[in-house]
Amino acid sequence: MNQDIKSILIDEKEIQQIVERISKQITEDYKERESNLLLLGILKGSVVFMADLMRNIDLPFEIDFMKVSSYGNSSKSSGKLNITLDIKREDLSNLDILIVEDIVDSGRTLSYLTEYLKQKGAHSVNTVTLLDKPSRREVQFTPTYTGKQIPDEFVVGYGLDYAEKYRYLPYVAILKSEVYSK
Ligand code: IMP
Ligand code: MG
Repeated sequence: MNQDIKSILIDEKEIQQIVERISKQITEDYKERESNLLLLGILKGSVVFMADLMRNIDLPFEIDFMKVSSYGNSSKSSGKLNITLDIKREDLSNLDILIVEDIVDSGRTLSYLTEYLKQKGAHSVNTVTLLDKPSRREVQFTPTYTGKQIPDEFVVGYGLDYAEKYRYLPYVAILKSEVYSK
């Protein structure tokens, strides 16, 4: 185990079970649709979850990515979001968009992006997140698909980072407190 890790919150086996359950549900829900399914990953945290969903959803789809950052200090949520990489498509009217996110915290990112893509004319917009911290909500938001609800703890691994580190860990883990004071 990585020496900065205090404990593993979700191990590889449980992640695999979550991915399989959600992919089955998405496959079932989207199989009758006539518009084109687009998995839209939010960089960078979603990439590992996205790659696993891509290999488990049993339907044809396309993929795309967006990147957002919060203005100024992200821990003092000003609520303002900045799209730093936008979706490279003109016409969204034939797309059923499924936004793929690593974790929902305040809810600002996904509620903003859902509204943004609807206003751009998407046929439908839904959301899938691996993790959710419902106790942290600042705006009302419920993801369409949730892997697992977790308590208010900062987690890393399986795409999630602390200061750009630990994204490569194959499990979701809690860091030792001394890591933050380094
Ligand atoms: P929201 O807009 O507050 O819901 O922010 C969600 C974003 O905050 C996620 O995409 C992550 O980048 C980041 N985030 C929130 N909680 C954690 C965590 O525990 N570990 C790593 N990143 C987190
Ligand atoms: Mg993120």
